[in-house]
Amino acid sequence: GAPVEVDISKIEPGMLLLVEWRGKVVWVLDRTPEMLANLKKLDSQVADPKSEKPQQPPYCKNDTRSIKPAILVVEGVCTHLGCSPVYRKDIAPADLGADWLGGFFCPCHGSKFDLAGRVYKSVPAPTNLVVPAHMYLSDTQLLIG
Ligand code: FES
Repeated sequence: GAPVEVDISKIEPGMLLLVEWRGKVVWVLDRTPEMLANLKKLDSQVADPKSEKPQQPPYCKNDTRSIKPAILVVEGVCTHLGCSPVYRKDIAPADLGADWLGGFFCPCHGSKFDLAGRVYKSVPAPTNLVVPAHMYLSDTQLLIG
């Protein structure tokens, strides 16, 4: 499939944009400073905190798994059996527990990912969500693929 160009000029903090690329959904999430700060608190709860497994291009192998710190670009496909996880930015909701700081919840078998797409320990999904190849053509034009 061809690369897809995405205009992110209208994205707002906390907002998730859905982009279709190669028949899958790619998420573009604009994370708030609070969301970014919360990532560090989850290092001990996620299975691969430093993203050692190659689920991202080298330029996204960093603390935020992204080129621009705020903007996460990740495939919206659960690494267990391919369901679509749900974006849950609410903090400590009744169904996900007091230590939920926002992330993606897969309703199929309960896998949990944080707002960098890092998989929690002890869930069926084996790896972090996949970051597809991407680059910025300008400050507000993203190219996926
Ligand atoms: Fe997501 Fe199984 S497909 S937990």
